[in-house]
Amino acid sequence: MSLLMQGETLFSFIDSLDPDFVPRVLPHREGQQEAIADCIRPLINGYRGRHVLVTGKAGIGKTATVQRMLADLREESAVASVFVNCWKKNSSFRILSEACHQLGYQFTHNLGTDEVLYKIKKLVGDKGIVFALDEVDKAQDDDFLYYLAEEIPRLVLVMITNDRTWFSRVDQRIRSRIIPEEIEFPPYSLEEMRDILALRRDYAFYDGTWSEDAFEMVVKKAHAAKDVRLGILLLRESGLEAEKDASRKVLPEHVTRASGRLLAHAEAGLDEDEKLILQAVKELGQEVSGKVYEKYVALGGRKSHRTFERKVNSLEEKGLLKTKKTGKGFRGQSTVISLSG
Ligand SMILES: Nc1ncnc2c1ncn2[C@@H]1O[C@H](COP(=O)(O)OP(=O)(O)OP(=O)(O)O)[C@@H](O)[C@H]1O
Ligand SMILES: [Mg+2]
Repeated sequence: MSLLMQGETLFSFIDSLDPDFVPRVLPHREGQQEAIADCIRPLINGYRGRHVLVTGKAGIGKTATVQRMLADLREESAVASVFVNCWKKNSSFRILSEACHQLGYQFTHNLGTDEVLYKIKKLVGDKGIVFALDEVDKAQDDDFLYYLAEEIPRLVLVMITNDRTWFSRVDQRIRSRIIPEEIEFPPYSLEEMRDILALRRDYAFYDGTWSEDAFEMVVKKAHAAKDVRLGILLLRESGLEAEKDASRKVLPEHVTRASGRLLAHAEAGLDEDEKLILQAVKELGQEVSGKVYEKYVALGGRKSHRTFERKVNSLEEKGLLKTKKTGKGFRGQSTVISLSG
């Protein structure tokens, strides 16, 4: 096997695997993009648009799709747009200030919320605005929704959340003013995951640098975790492992090592109960949820069955566990838990 020479690399564009890189094309999200565009288009033509509620699990392209669409909108129209993450800016004042900054006005620190809103209104003028709110359920109050809906006539809110029930809990006075179109982002199938990761791989690596088997391992792991983010991270880390070996190809052993390291890192960040649940599954192998709960209790776990189920979900989202529903037996449907990968 020939070796990489000093200074040679497998990556043609490693930065395209960064978490916040937004690809130009997002295969298998065409339908969702079309549906969102339908809600925004009236704004471009000078009318009122429709609000959007984007829902779906972690790591399946909600943020990337909306960011791509806003970037395209900026290139193609005069409509203003802002993108605010409500986990990072989590109060009405912070959300509106951030929007104001993105629209080009920085001096909000001495202003009150109503003054910031007034500024936004002036900056938007009659251009209209698409106001994207990522992780919208993480905002500590909902007042900004009310203010925006009241004050800005040509407004499209694009609210993004993992929590499908969030909007039904929002204050009734807001819900009567904002009636969004819900656009669901379903998880990708195995074939879709393969397409997406192949495109991301070909963008980031030189031709012929991946063995088919190694790539297929990445696809399977990302599909099992239902998370493109994990797949992209694995592409990057496996490439770096191969470079450490000075290998001209990324091989299955590099994916195994990268994935082991990512798992160890993920496990180190777990809370005590999550660690116990993981240990229970490691000891039992594949087992129905009830038995795993018993084992968790035997190992010293003290939390209720409900909390246990929530933690199992979060372990699945982190790519550490897999769950599968069994067919309906006499005792109803049950969930089988196993290690992922
Ligand atoms: N169809 C796709 N084509 C190319 N890349 C994609 C696609 N879908 C998702 N990705 C990539 O996968 C990663 C995760 O996507 P994104 O951040 O949009 O997920 P999300 O649904 O917002 O997740 P979360 O709920 O955790 O915020 C990003 O790097 C994104 O670029
Ligand atoms: Mg997101």
